[in-house]
Amino acid sequence: MTTTLITGANKGLGFETARRLIAAGHTVHLGSRDADRGRRAAERLGARPVVLDVTDDASVAAAVKAIEADGGLDVLINNAGIEERTPDGGVVGAAEVTADMMRTMFETNVFGMVRVTHAFLPLLRRSAAPVVVNVSSGLASLKRVSTPDDPAYAYPGVAYPASKTTVNMVTVQYAKAFPEMRINAVEPGYTATDLNAHTGHQTVAEGAEIIVRMAQVGPDGPTGSYVDIEGTLPW
Ligand SMILES: NC(=O)c1ccc[n+]([C@@H]2O[C@H](COP(=O)([O-])OP(=O)(O)OC[C@H]3O[C@@H](n4cnc5c(N)ncnc54)[C@H](OP(=O)(O)O)[C@@H]3O)[C@@H](O)[C@H]2O)c1
Repeated sequence: MTTTLITGANKGLGFETARRLIAAGHTVHLGSRDADRGRRAAERLGARPVVLDVTDDASVAAAVKAIEADGGLDVLINNAGIEERTPDGGVVGAAEVTADMMRTMFETNVFGMVRVTHAFLPLLRRSAAPVVVNVSSGLASLKRVSTPDDPAYAYPGVAYPASKTTVNMVTVQYAKAFPEMRINAVEPGYTATDLNAHTGHQTVAEGAEIIVRMAQVGPDGPTGSYVDIEGTLPW
């Protein structure tokens, strides 16, 4: 039996990933920073709710304790994330971005991911086949964002893509440090969720596909990779 934790799984891609992995036989701990939203989501799926705010040390420590008491962890999916938006729903560009906005973005998308991964390392190391999936973005790719004929080139935001490029670097460094684990970064594709006010062109079922696939890689599978549903992406 594989036990999996998904952060930020009360809605969006995390929720859909939980649904799919439960169908595949995983025991899923559904992370949510809000207890009620998490409990309701978990009830809908038959998941185990766990209160987990990735920006809060005490919350993460309590989640580790609860999951350890429940039998341990095999798969960690670092999915919780935020994107910057102006009050009218636009993307915050280079002229407007501030150090505070960068800090807020990194607090969730980068420091949160590191906080959670670091805290769960002891449980993952006890697993026979530990797997970590870091939900990155196509906008993490320096190659794509700097190539004029790539759709990512037109994206004007600064903090979000910078945070996801950092997610990729962190993924590579963790993968080298823990060769006994499979640790990969994934790009779900532009998916209609609250994150982008449902402007994405994919469904959550399509977007979750690569997360679900990389959550199920075996000990001989890839590690330190950056992939979408079609294969390896350029850094
Ligand atoms: N949608 C896309 O097109 C797309 C593309 C590429 C990558 N991604 C990535 O996919 C991941 C999931 O995004 P989504 O599109 O499914 O967005 P979403 O529907 O807005 O879901 C984001 C989830 O993260 C949670 N979250 C935010 N801050 C948190 C914190 N401090 N602690 C714990 N949970 C927190 C949210 O909880 P609340 O409900 O409490 O806010 C929510 O459950 C993100 O990492 C995002 O960057 C999305």
